[in-house]
Amino acid sequence: MFFQSVKKVKYYKYIIYGKLSLLMKRQLSCVIIISMKRTILIFLILCLSLAGCKGAQGIRQDQNSEITDTNEPAEDTHEDGNEPSEGRTVIKRVGVAMPTRTSERWINDGMSIKARLETLGYEVDLQYADDDIDLQISQIESMIRNDVSCLVISSIDSTRLVDVLKEAKNNGIAVIAYDRLLMDTDAVSYYASFDNKEVGTLIGNYIEDRMNLEEASRTGKSYTIEFFMGSPDDNNALFLYTGVMDVLKSYIDNGTLVCRSGKTSFRETCILRWSDTKAEEMCSDLIREYYRSGDLDIACSAFDGFDYGILRSWQRAGLSMEDLPLITGQDAEKAAVKNIAEGRQAMTIYKDTRILAAKCVTMVQALLEGGKPEINDTSQYNNNVLTVPSYLCTPVVIDKDNYEDVLIGGGYYTKEQLFAR
Ligand code: BGC
Repeated sequence: MFFQSVKKVKYYKYIIYGKLSLLMKRQLSCVIIISMKRTILIFLILCLSLAGCKGAQGIRQDQNSEITDTNEPAEDTHEDGNEPSEGRTVIKRVGVAMPTRTSERWINDGMSIKARLETLGYEVDLQYADDDIDLQISQIESMIRNDVSCLVISSIDSTRLVDVLKEAKNNGIAVIAYDRLLMDTDAVSYYASFDNKEVGTLIGNYIEDRMNLEEASRTGKSYTIEFFMGSPDDNNALFLYTGVMDVLKSYIDNGTLVCRSGKTSFRETCILRWSDTKAEEMCSDLIREYYRSGDLDIACSAFDGFDYGILRSWQRAGLSMEDLPLITGQDAEKAAVKNIAEGRQAMTIYKDTRILAAKCVTMVQALLEGGKPEINDTSQYNNNVLTVPSYLCTPVVIDKDNYEDVLIGGGYYTKEQLFAR
């Protein structure tokens, strides 16, 4: 921090001093310049102490999350300590902190954001934290030290970045929460995500339609169901659960859906860090205790990764692939789409990371260059400190009937990518 302030002081000195001395060179004689230099330096020190007080606040938000001040200069990276030469374009840096590479979507997200930012002329520091919270904190700290102007963060644990985000704010660095909301902080300016409750609603609706639950309710037919929900430290997971239950709860209550384990609450069904191996263990336990003969009808899963675990446990229990439950998912990962095409998974939720990345990049631009990004939600995403202005993209259901049109036709995957042996 101390070194950063010294760097900033030096930097302001160079800018103001540089500009004034250029002016003087043109207008005043050398003798006057020499005698004025001391006066200017004293004047600069006074200015800098005032600027220092203001600079600590950097890009701020008022209560309504509108940007009220951008006093961080555009030209902000002079590690060599040299005065920026006149007319030289200095590239702004953006730090992009992604949670993990174990799931395909984050690799796509990271690549898309980086490519788009680079096309606009930004320098990008993209880091993956391998689901290690301390590693993510130290990656963000190093981005702050390296003078990024903006941070795009998809957290591992949404509540554990409070301190490092405070540091970012104190350094005038703008922060965008990417896909996962950053909780308990006032340092976040915008949130770019998908409509996370809608993801759950779509999963619930799919189960309702495919199993014809309305009809089953009328005729007294019932189906068994178990839930595999997202990580408790990810705000999205609870939204998704809420969407699912908005559709399915009445069928559980009236006995059309029977959950033999009795585990229907979020707390009982959430899976830490979205781990596929934990989903596999959970499914093995359920099969052993309640579904030995493979009579589970529905695995309501919140993530494609869980489905690989569910399929492994099904096979390991020696159950027939013919008796697989209807398995839902999220992310339209390549392996999941292949499973859908080949009948091992019923559906997934497609979240076009290209669109999300594009929305996020407009937020970066707005924060760094001025202007207002497109926002379509100002009420749903309260992080316990403020309601973060958000852009929520629309999730799309994918199943056997539309994966070719939407995913291959839409250029998200090629046929070869999906079916390469
Ligand atoms: C994302 C999902 C993803 C999950 C696991 C969530 O925050 O919204 O798209 O499946 O993380 O990576």
